[in-house]
Amino acid sequence: MSADVQSHPGDGATTRASSPDGRSFSARASSAAAVRPGDYLRIVREDGADLLGFVEEVTPLDGSGVSAAGSLIDEGSDVTPMPFTDANAAPTSPDSVARVVSGPDPELVVGQLVSTPSVGVGLVPHRLNRHTFWCGQSGSGKTYALGVALERIILRTRLPVVVFDPNSDFVKLHAVREGVDPAVAEALAGRAVRVLRPGDGPDALRIRFRDMGPRAKAAILRLDPVVNRGEYNALLRLAPALQGVDPAGIPARMREVGGLDGEALAQRVENLGLLEWQTWAYDHEAATDVIAGRPAATVLDLGAFHSGDEQLVVALAVLEDLWARREERRPLLLVIDEAHNLCPPEPEGPLGIAVRDRIIQIAAEGRKFGLWLLLSTQRPSKVHRGIVSQCDNVTVMRMNSPGDLAELGDLFGFVPRSILAQSARFRQGEALIAGGFVAMPSIVRVRDRITLEGGIDVRVPMP
Ligand SMILES: Nc1ncnc2c1ncn2[C@@H]1O[C@H](COP(=O)(O)OP(=O)(O)OP(=O)(O)O)[C@@H](O)[C@H]1O
Ligand SMILES: [Mg+2]
Repeated sequence: MSADVQSHPGDGATTRASSPDGRSFSARASSAAAVRPGDYLRIVREDGADLLGFVEEVTPLDGSGVSAAGSLIDEGSDVTPMPFTDANAAPTSPDSVARVVSGPDPELVVGQLVSTPSVGVGLVPHRLNRHTFWCGQSGSGKTYALGVALERIILRTRLPVVVFDPNSDFVKLHAVREGVDPAVAEALAGRAVRVLRPGDGPDALRIRFRDMGPRAKAAILRLDPVVNRGEYNALLRLAPALQGVDPAGIPARMREVGGLDGEALAQRVENLGLLEWQTWAYDHEAATDVIAGRPAATVLDLGAFHSGDEQLVVALAVLEDLWARREERRPLLLVIDEAHNLCPPEPEGPLGIAVRDRIIQIAAEGRKFGLWLLLSTQRPSKVHRGIVSQCDNVTVMRMNSPGDLAELGDLFGFVPRSILAQSARFRQGEALIAGGFVAMPSIVRVRDRITLEGGIDVRVPMP
């Protein structure tokens, strides 16, 4: 029996704790103010062994007081886990908590514990080899906080990052803010950050049609291999004849060498306006070439494209190329902000379906090839469930819909429900971070950005 014992009269913060298995504990406190989910307790066993307990659930008791339950943390000491019935439990010092959650590198700290602001919470970099889900309602500070995490990853790991940036929010990820510690600014300046944007010049965001596989090409041309078998076949047959042809001359060459099916294919290209897109690299450097060189970060500014299809085509080309090269096993973190654009449950059109299906495949199989996803969105239901369910790391910012919180609770069983419930009251910039990439589920206020934010909030005009 886990015998809850009375808290000490006159010493509200000290309680008695018991453990049925040496791994979990329960304790009783005089009031909900004395112990909250996410708190740490120092528990001294009857034999004098000193343990650290993490409070996961707090439930009111009949009468007065609350019952707190949680896990005993393995601090790597030589204390043997064993059941106990009457241990002394009291709040612990910030130093003891910091030893568990801060990690050895202050530059990997992403925020401070809301309950104990002197304690920083550090990323566990070697556990970034998992998929991560990042959610919170609009304005909760997801993009800002994501920027904080990316800055830390770029600065302190050698894990290259590719950012699919639909709102041009990360286009200044290479521009350090004023007032940043000069040593940090210098370290960041030493990391290659490429920002590719639609247009011309050395940082143009382009992709190469001819490098794409037949299914991706067919999706761009909205061709079905059975319904449009003639044109689909012409697409396969004509590829060699189109090599090196000047873009403006492509439809003419299709007509010249492709017969009736070539004519139909040329009409399709013209009707879809594909040659007017800014997207095509032809013989210029393509985004896939840049990413293959693995800069510390590559930002793909999708927000500056005029059409949604161009955004999808760029995403598809990049994802297809990475998948085709997966056996190279070169690690990469694929960050998708506003992930509902690229992997909603039910995308429209063949391009949207092709992009989503590739992301589903990367979610399911990419981990072992070093392709790790970090997906940010407003609600869990906006992203295909087969993708979200593959995420082992999660960040939750303000979310006040009970339905969304219940869904997150189901999807991420490793996040204690009482801690998750607190996200309904988060302020902007506060986040619950849980999963292997942090030592313990933690509610933090994210630290300040060191690079500039790209997107600008539209301000209310004032007189
Ligand atoms: N921790 C923070 N410190 C300072 N400003 C912040 C912080 N978090 C967010 N902001 C500011 O609040 C605004 C909204 O934040 P952000 O764009 O990150 O929200 P979001 O959750 O990504 O919203 P959306 O879902 O609409 O994209 C931005 O102008 C940003 O600069
Ligand atoms: Mg955002």
